[in-house]
Amino acid sequence: MAGFDNPRETWNERYASPGYLFGEEPNAFLRKQAGWLRPGSCVLCVADGEGRNSVWLAEQGFEVIAFDFAPNAVEKARALAKRRGVSVDHQVSDFDNWPWPTARYDAVAAIFIQFLPPERREAAIAAMKASVVPGGAFLLEGYRPEQVDYGTGGPPRRDHMYTREWVERQFADWDIRVLEAYDAELREGRAHCGMSALIDLVATRGS
Ligand SMILES: C[S@@+](CC[C@H](N)C(=O)[O-])C[C@H]1O[C@@H](n2cnc3c(N)ncnc32)[C@H](O)[C@@H]1O
Repeated sequence: MAGFDNPRETWNERYASPGYLFGEEPNAFLRKQAGWLRPGSCVLCVADGEGRNSVWLAEQGFEVIAFDFAPNAVEKARALAKRRGVSVDHQVSDFDNWPWPTARYDAVAAIFIQFLPPERREAAIAAMKASVVPGGAFLLEGYRPEQVDYGTGGPPRRDHMYTREWVERQFADWDIRVLEAYDAELREGRAHCGMSALIDLVATRGS
């Protein structure tokens, strides 16, 4: 399937065209739920793309570390931070090469990281969870399998999407503060546009 054989080159090429594929405004879920983040704390933005989320978080006063494996995206993220006059530690890294330190970040934001295949997803979630300090937070927004029928964003693979039960299972040992499965119209640049089958999670790690 196109894009799955060479995902890094595919994403990097998508980001080579002018403009911001997902727009310059933060993800609506992140904006709505940012109140769960401790003011001034350290947030890791996973697969942050062109920086719309990391830059907005930095504007809100957070210390932000972000990575994505597409160099063109990270270049645009750095340009966005510069234009907005904020500082973000933007890194080029594959998810698997990220060091995933234990209990390092006050929060992890994982917004549309649907690239993880089902057989690798649980270990990936476990690594991200372990990198959060006790008392810290995890903010996740993704697509549900029904999204494949909408075709308005994300890979055309149901098994890459999240069900409510799956998310509940992954965070059964944390406090689930928000877990909402719903359909809504997204307007996030050219790439996420139209009615979408979403699932949102905010969970906090016990102290
Ligand atoms: C749908 S985009 C979302 C970008 C960003 N989170 C946002 O909401 O604007 C998915 C991102 O995952 C990145 N990505 C895909 N596979 C990756 C991997 N294995 N390691 C790191 N980043 C990856 C892509 O480059 C792309 O920027």
